[in-house]
Amino acid sequence: MLAHRLSRQGISTIAVDTRTRHEIETTHRAGILESGSVDMLVRGGVSDRILRDGYEHHGVELRYGGHGHRIDFTEHVGSSVWLYPQTDVFIDLADARERDGGDVRFGVTDTEVLDPYTERPAIRFIDDAGEEWTVRAKIVVGADGSRSMCRNLIPAETVTRYFHEYPFAWFGILCEAPMSAPELIYAHSDRGFALISQRTDSVQRMYFQCDPNENPDDWSEDRIWSELQARVAGDGFALTTGPVFEKVVLKFRSFVQEPMRHGRLVLAGDAAHTVPPTGAKGLNLALSDVRILSDVLARFLESGDERILATYEPTALRRVWRSQNFSYWMTQMLHLAPGGDPFAVKRQLGELETVTGTRQGQAYLANAYTGWPREEGL
Ligand code: DHB
Repeated sequence: MLAHRLSRQGISTIAVDTRTRHEIETTHRAGILESGSVDMLVRGGVSDRILRDGYEHHGVELRYGGHGHRIDFTEHVGSSVWLYPQTDVFIDLADARERDGGDVRFGVTDTEVLDPYTERPAIRFIDDAGEEWTVRAKIVVGADGSRSMCRNLIPAETVTRYFHEYPFAWFGILCEAPMSAPELIYAHSDRGFALISQRTDSVQRMYFQCDPNENPDDWSEDRIWSELQARVAGDGFALTTGPVFEKVVLKFRSFVQEPMRHGRLVLAGDAAHTVPPTGAKGLNLALSDVRILSDVLARFLESGDERILATYEPTALRRVWRSQNFSYWMTQMLHLAPGGDPFAVKRQLGELETVTGTRQGQAYLANAYTGWPREEGL
């Protein structure tokens, strides 16, 4: 996305990725895009496929105590989200780069950043044909994910790392089945959290809270379905079931590294911050980083004024910490801490009641979930 946006402003880029295109296209990740993320894809000229193949959601259901409570995004904040898998976002971006003649190298090895503290940093890598390259640039952006190597190049004495660990994980499945509900369901139950999400009319994505050391092989289809069904029971609601063709355990953590830049080396996305999956902020936050960064880089490269580079981090961090708070907040409101503290559960139900039962609570969730308006300088 960053390369696409920079190329639209006449700036040449080269993007390298250690994974192959096939690997990225077949790794299932999140599925919800904020309206601002959709604008970046559609109005930004990447693709309008989302408008045909995606599903616009005008609300979400919170379920607790055996009842569903819908929060209407359009009514409260005049906004919506789109169900459109991250793999499709990637396919659209890769196709757009190809269409525009962009230079993207997949499946590279031995990547190394050279001279990161100079005005001419470089990357060295070996391409998928075994040829070694050194590319010098004005800027190197480490958008290299949660296992970032670039983040470790920022001098340790300037770095602060903020962590929060959670005592649970998500068990995620993909299955062949019709949709169980028109919108997503986030469920609190006395057996723990569950999320009923979707992919298409015939493929569904669902998750339930589990132990971080859970082994997917211990879970038969029957066991998965009875656990999911038990967590969303009530109001006569029944999941539509079908063959499960993927099982994964997703680890939870909150993480931010500051600063997000040192000289000409800049971090974006998960390289600088990770959120727990509840609320689907990870991809949206990465897109927000590159929206801010592409404008900053274009202005910097035009003027050569280094002070412009310094404006990226403070703007990006405002949304990062709002999203950190939102993801943490959704997580703590919906998951059961191991050990079963009855006070904690009753308190959560009080919070859910306040969120779903008041206009202010609904509006708070709607505004955060759909992504705070970009115009607010975020
Ligand atoms: C999905 C993942 C999330 O973390 C979330 O909050 C909503 C949806 C998904 O994969 O569909």
